Amino acid sequence: MRDTYATYGPVALVTGASSGIGESFTKQLSELGFTVFAVARRIERLEALRELAVAEDRGEVIPIAADLQDPKAAEIVLEAVTARGLTVSLLVNNAGFGRLGNLESVPREAALGMVDLNCRAVVDLTCRFLPGMKERKRGGVIVVSSVVGTIPTPWFAVYSATKAFDLYFGEALYAECKGSGVDVLTVLPGLTRTEFQAGSGMRDYHSPYRSAEQVVQSALKALGKKPIVVDGLFNKLISHGSRFLPRGLLLSVARFVMRKELRLEAPK
Ligand SMILES: NC(=O)c1ccc[n+]([C@@H]2O[C@H](COP(=O)([O-])OP(=O)(O)OC[C@H]3O[C@@H](n4cnc5c(N)ncnc54)[C@H](OP(=O)(O)O)[C@@H]3O)[C@@H](O)[C@H]2O)c1
Repeated sequence: MRDTYATYGPVALVTGASSGIGESFTKQLSELGFTVFAVARRIERLEALRELAVAEDRGEVIPIAADLQDPKAAEIVLEAVTARGLTVSLLVNNAGFGRLGNLESVPREAALGMVDLNCRAVVDLTCRFLPGMKERKRGGVIVVSSVVGTIPTPWFAVYSATKAFDLYFGEALYAECKGSGVDVLTVLPGLTRTEFQAGSGMRDYHSPYRSAEQVVQSALKALGKKPIVVDGLFNKLISHGSRFLPRGLLLSVARFVMRKELRLEAPK
């Protein structure tokens, strides 16, 4: 982690920087000396991060207010970076949300919003910043997927599908970029204590939670060393198990666990 700045500095861009894992990425990268473009909708939270970095004499945090579900947002983000005369050398595609429930109970706008934010914005931003990194033969791209991306998850169908997309996108891009000077890492957090749970309609689960700081430490340690990192031992067991279990069995287990966790009575 000590070499992260030397390898990927000086400028990072973190999406979903206003809370949870993205906020922790912003703080840790700024602490390492990065100038961090912090992207999210809640500008007041990004301003607070900027002030904290000034107060603690860390790398500069530059807020960018953008709704990444909007197809025009990536252009706005790129313009904000260019206006500063800077280029991004480390891109952290982190912003994302989920919504629990059977498909008909999830508002269509939320279902499509997950696709727009968790998939479309990730591809759009990567398309915009990767070419420059390749030209300079130097850079890093982090994609935050989820352990749920390894498991087709009933009552979390759209979310788990978007995270599977992120996983395949990131892993494939890792192989594509090998030898180019650009490192790509896909991060698979499991249950992590953030605002994600409340936003997705989850209750407090029995499984062990990780902290956002631990997820970011796992990511920065793994960047440049491997294509994917699963954060935490418990989550490693789940994701490795899910990759080797027969598909039918995996789906039955996922259905059983989700029905139990959601305390669903019907359908059988
Ligand atoms: N927490 C977990 O248990 C867990 C597990 C596995 C994977 N993950 C993944 O980790 C990533 C970060 O989630 P988190 O746990 O840190 O959740 P979080 O605390 O809810 O943070 C989500 C971030 O995404 C931003 N965001 C949401 N909608 C946005 C939009 N339309 N445009 C721009 N930014 C938007 C939010 O900022 P604004 O609301 O200010 O826009 C916030 O900064 C997500 O991709 C999530 O899928 C989380």
